[in-house]
Amino acid sequence: MTLQDSKLPQAGAAGAVPTGKSGGPARVCVVGGAGYVGSVLVRTLLARGYGVTVLDNFLYDHALSVEGIYDEPGYRLVNGDLRRADVVAQALDGVDHVVLLASLVGDPISKKYPELTRSVNLDGSQALFAALDTHDIDRFVFTSTCSNYGLMDDNTLADETSSLNPLSLYAETKVGFEQFVLGQLDSHKVCPTLLRIATAFGMSQRMRFDLTVNEFGRAMAMKTPLDVYDKDTWRPYAHVRDISGAIIKVLESDSAKVKGEVFNVGSDDNNYTKAMLVEEFLRHVDAPVAFVEKGADARNYRVSFAKIRTQLGFEAQHSVAEFVPQLISAVQDGLYGRADTLKTYYGNYQVRDGVPDTL
Ligand SMILES: NC(=O)c1ccc[n+]([C@@H]2O[C@H](COP(=O)([O-])OP(=O)(O)OC[C@H]3O[C@@H](n4cnc5c(N)ncnc54)[C@H](O)[C@@H]3O)[C@@H](O)[C@H]2O)c1
Repeated sequence: MTLQDSKLPQAGAAGAVPTGKSGGPARVCVVGGAGYVGSVLVRTLLARGYGVTVLDNFLYDHALSVEGIYDEPGYRLVNGDLRRADVVAQALDGVDHVVLLASLVGDPISKKYPELTRSVNLDGSQALFAALDTHDIDRFVFTSTCSNYGLMDDNTLADETSSLNPLSLYAETKVGFEQFVLGQLDSHKVCPTLLRIATAFGMSQRMRFDLTVNEFGRAMAMKTPLDVYDKDTWRPYAHVRDISGAIIKVLESDSAKVKGEVFNVGSDDNNYTKAMLVEEFLRHVDAPVAFVEKGADARNYRVSFAKIRTQLGFEAQHSVAEFVPQLISAVQDGLYGRADTLKTYYGNYQVRDGVPDTL
């Protein structure tokens, strides 16, 4: 146990996190922990008393997101590429559970960097999964996406058994990795769980304005003209804090309930069309919006979140409707004044120099 770990709450005490193999609090390696979801998840885990190791290569030059927690008790950072076996070995040292968030995330960035996307989201992630047993990892949580459902009939709610219809390289790689894990459940000791997460919204230390709710909110709060494509297409949304809560819920559930299971993460109430989202913002701010038909993104899906609710007791706590006025105030209070000049920090637009397509 390091000096920092000794400052964590006592493992095994009432209300504290489970004891890990070190005899101290369980340690979670969050791969991609410096990103939008990871920044919130890591802080939530630390606040609960877990030890956390972040493995991240700051793909968008966004090390700023971890500055404030570098010296937190229980926190360790491994700055490196998940595709390197030596980096993975260093990051998994003393770790009990692994959460794999790191990927090229989103349709546009995966289209822009197809080779890098396959290399990280498939080859690198598969090699990481293969290393888990060697390091005696107990739980593995993979963040997949509801984008896997792609295109659904408006009247049908997609559930975990619905057929998958990935419409982008991003979703193809997520489906590919899901199938890779599910295809070898019996040959590994680790307990894996696959989460198909709704499109995220909410505030994070690594804010992303390339995500629909956040993007619409920033533009409308600033009264910048906004073009909205295919206004009647449905999409489910999930707050970053709820995503973190769902991941922790899986880590803390009986393995029999989560081993080899797929769960959608979000809430039925946060299924919205783009026009409905715009309506939410227009309740609070008057802004110029133009609706444009036949955009490049054909995705249309509404999703059921009944399984995670009934099997694990997970209920989302945050709604789009509550977040909308918060985001408008945050933008109008000047929090994101540098979002245009520091564009790569605030979204997945361009990978930093020096990241090789393949290793
Ligand atoms: N944001 C969403 O709307 C959303 C929706 C559904 C699912 N998800 C899933 O949640 C996860 C996190 O998404 P996010 O929005 O935080 O994305 P993000 O792009 O903000 O974070 C990804 C992180 O992974 C890191 N990373 C990428 N390649 C790496 C590599 N080779 N080695 C080490 N680190 C690497 C990046 O530096 C970044 O910090 C992803 O798996 C994504 O598919 C996100």
